[in-house]
Amino acid sequence: MTRVLFVCLGNICRSPLAEAIFNQLIQERTLEEKISCDSAGTGDWHVGELPDPRTREVARQYQVPLDHRGRQFSPADFATYDYIIAMDQNNRDNIQRQIPEAEPASYQLLLMREFDEVPGKLDVPDPYWGGEQGFDDMYHLLRRCCINLLDYVQK
Ligand code: 4NP
Repeated sequence: MTRVLFVCLGNICRSPLAEAIFNQLIQERTLEEKISCDSAGTGDWHVGELPDPRTREVARQYQVPLDHRGRQFSPADFATYDYIIAMDQNNRDNIQRQIPEAEPASYQLLLMREFDEVPGKLDVPDPYWGGEQGFDDMYHLLRRCCINLLDYVQK
């Protein structure tokens, strides 16, 4: 099994939606026996919570099943996952600081927008403090990246 972990800050907006879209693509390609994914946040404020209501609404609109409870990223995740996908450079730096010393890296730590077709920006904008449009934009951005990421993981 190849395991993918999406990581953002709160684990209620970007990474749970990325997880849900990726799971939908895994099902469409009948890869359930080969590839699995989860999500986590570097922060602990929303542990145990459902995704933000605006994330749930955009998932409903685009018919993406969303089934996640907030959890915090843990250094134990380095040994579990093959791909750790950070939503922005702050998340990536935060994850990097938690790498256990002298552990040979069996994972790839990557940025989600490395898989975007639109070049330039490296961060998935955090929609949490903005309006609903940010959530719709987030869906389209994450879907583009998830398709390319799954192609990459499948190879
Ligand atoms: P996310 O957005 O990292 O995409 O889940 C956030 C959600 C909540 C907070 C920060 C970012 N917060 O500070 O509570």
